[in-house]
Amino acid sequence: MQPARCLRLARALPRVHRLARCINTQPSDNSSKPGPRTTSFGFRTVPEDEKESLVKNVFDSVASSYDLMNDASSLGVHRLWKDTFVSTLRPGRKGPLRCIDVAGGTGDIALRILDHAREKYADRETTVEVVDINGQMLKEGFRRFKKTMYHNTPQISFHEANAQELPPSQFTDNTYDLYTIAFGIRNCTSIPDALKEAYRVLKPGGTFACLEFSRVNNPLFSLAYDQYSFTMIPLMGTILAGDRASYQYLVESIRKFPPQPEFANMIRDAGFTTGKDVDGGAWTDLWGGIACIHTAVKV
Ligand SMILES: C[S@@+](CC[C@H](N)C(=O)[O-])C[C@H]1O[C@@H](n2cnc3c(N)ncnc32)[C@H](O)[C@@H]1O
Repeated sequence: MQPARCLRLARALPRVHRLARCINTQPSDNSSKPGPRTTSFGFRTVPEDEKESLVKNVFDSVASSYDLMNDASSLGVHRLWKDTFVSTLRPGRKGPLRCIDVAGGTGDIALRILDHAREKYADRETTVEVVDINGQMLKEGFRRFKKTMYHNTPQISFHEANAQELPPSQFTDNTYDLYTIAFGIRNCTSIPDALKEAYRVLKPGGTFACLEFSRVNNPLFSLAYDQYSFTMIPLMGTILAGDRASYQYLVESIRKFPPQPEFANMIRDAGFTTGKDVDGGAWTDLWGGIACIHTAVKV
């Protein structure tokens, strides 16, 4: 409504009603002005340029208890999903790979890739570059790798960088055979930007693989899962990590992540080729869709 019209209307109305009408007109009066671009942070809507620091705070806060909480909140199931994820990719089968594990956190996927290549194919040349926006998570990962045979070898390295804008001088075009991202892409402010970067750094013929929480298809199972995650996970966050808010965010961010076909579309929009839009095609559901593996190829 135009301000002049609001004023005319106001004169004709009783005082309280008048105030309410004029207050109600404020958003549309402002709507012509471009506001800050917004995005979701869990169930909250926040300005886009704030999300990164909010996500960083979450992972700063959970870094030291992350592995323990992961085990507790998923009852250890995240380990099975990660095992399935890596064994599906069969790193090392066709010779050593150059891999990048983005949002790699404490190195769960990197360790599995290296172990798989070594144990199944006696491959000690596959390399993984773990990339994460959060130095604290990387520090935990580095500490953990110190206890492994990969420490101080060219097989593993840790890099602080944003998935949405990997520095091109460090992460050059057409470089990697395998790009993995596990439980990380939903935290990115712009998923399309992260996918664009994945496409850029992969070699032609390289594989993109994403493990992420997704959409449960069975309504009854979905209800039980919602009950569990919205009550138990924040409660465990309070008890085990002294941090309810971060775990509440993690649960909420899962619900805001696009369902399987929508995410598959985003992957194709970035230039990748995928299988058909069915379970077993572009994606593979794990545990009824609680988690999901999306794979795609840069042709
Ligand atoms: C839930 S953890 C997953 C860690 C690991 N991939 C795993 O599966 O255990 C999510 C990780 O994403 C990282 N992250 C969030 N936003 C990111 C971004 N824009 N770029 C890179 N890493 C990001 C966080 O710092 C955190 O370490």
